[in-house]
Amino acid sequence: MTRRDIVAGIDIGTSNIRVIVGEIASGGMVNIIGVGTSPSEGIKKSVIIDLERTVESINSAVAEAERMVGAKLETVNVGIVGSHAGLVNNRGVVAVSREDKEITEQDVERVLQAARVIALPQDKEIIDVIPREFIVDGYDGIRDPVGMLGVRLEVDAMIVTGAMTSLRNLLRCVNMSGHEVNAIILNALANGEVCLSRDEKELGVFLIDLGGGTTEVSFFQHGGLSDMAVLPTGGDHITNDLAVGMRTTFKLAEKLKLEHGFAVAEMASDEQEIEIEGISGREKRNVSTREVFNYIEPRIQEIMHLCLQEMNRMGHAKMPPAGVVLTGGVSLMKGITEFCESVFQCPVRTAQPEYLGVKSPIYSTAVGIIHYVLRNQGVGRMVKSHNSKKGSVGSLWKRIKAFFADIWE
Ligand SMILES: Nc1ncnc2c1ncn2[C@@H]1O[C@H](COP(=O)(O)OP(=O)(O)OP(=O)(O)O)[C@@H](O)[C@H]1O
Ligand SMILES: [Mg+2]
Repeated sequence: MTRRDIVAGIDIGTSNIRVIVGEIASGGMVNIIGVGTSPSEGIKKSVIIDLERTVESINSAVAEAERMVGAKLETVNVGIVGSHAGLVNNRGVVAVSREDKEITEQDVERVLQAARVIALPQDKEIIDVIPREFIVDGYDGIRDPVGMLGVRLEVDAMIVTGAMTSLRNLLRCVNMSGHEVNAIILNALANGEVCLSRDEKELGVFLIDLGGGTTEVSFFQHGGLSDMAVLPTGGDHITNDLAVGMRTTFKLAEKLKLEHGFAVAEMASDEQEIEIEGISGREKRNVSTREVFNYIEPRIQEIMHLCLQEMNRMGHAKMPPAGVVLTGGVSLMKGITEFCESVFQCPVRTAQPEYLGVKSPIYSTAVGIIHYVLRNQGVGRMVKSHNSKKGSVGSLWKRIKAFFADIWE
């Protein structure tokens, strides 16, 4: 296997850093050939608070993945959480350049470039430009205009911006761990790649990433992301509540949550007992499952109601046709889909990558990063000689990379 065929994604989460390495098989299919996980030290509520410890965590997750792959990863693709990013809609217009008026990839690149021209505050930078639709001589709804005939090419694009400070720190960490960053991908877009079907994205769907330190709500419609919000609450708060309530350590509370956690307190019994280890030499004691659930449910309820508020703020008091899809670690909690169905009053399902070895919602973002890169960049920067069909976006990313190279210096 050569280096040309692999692409790596890193999800730097609040709880864990996950590295996924994919190999591009024939027909553009992806095989997952490397997985690395490391507890995320130095990150709080998705903000890097300790550079060195974050670098160590990245190193250890990458090293684990590298051991599986049997090769060193040089270039990686990194996810960025929505709280450090923003979405802005903009339009770009150009005249088709060829004399015979056939639209080329260069025209598409020029129109995307035109869409990038927006006034941004100094602390924001563009990290991605996503075409929603192209308009050729007034005919809208076009997904790929290359090869069509026309005089005027317009694009309705969504610009993803990133907060400069967070981007710099994120890039610095990955760079300090000895890796080059190929692209920065919005976590919500990465999750959308693996968690949602084309139909769901077309009809309208909410995707909720229930993470350790944050909960990200994103709304997809007409084939793409249209809105997002990040709540600073997640699974770690449930653990914290349990630790305080049960007077135990965070570590033991986490174990208790993973082994016995259930989202709905009503389903718990007073008779069924769980043994809890004592802290600081105290004796083991027994508690009823109801007591445990009583600490879990209110926090889940709070998270879901905050999600509901965000959904309303986005203008969706009524749930979209494809309902709600859950992913992220907390979506593994027993009873959560049923709980969410009662809160959101619509169909709810949990989504995960369907690959052997990473079949869990905790891997959605990292696997999604790989998918997103491959879909938008052919086979990535590692295969420069390869002529990707979406060359325009690929070269756009090369420019984005050039910008990042600038800010590293
Ligand atoms: N089986 C389970 N039941 C309940 N909670 C779980 C389970 N497995 C993992 N979790 C919780 O999921 C959270 C971690 O999820 P995830 O790995 O998606 O977070 P992250 O990506 O590191 O964080 P963030 O997205 O907030 O930056 C932790 O709080 C963990 O306790
Ligand atoms: Mg996450």
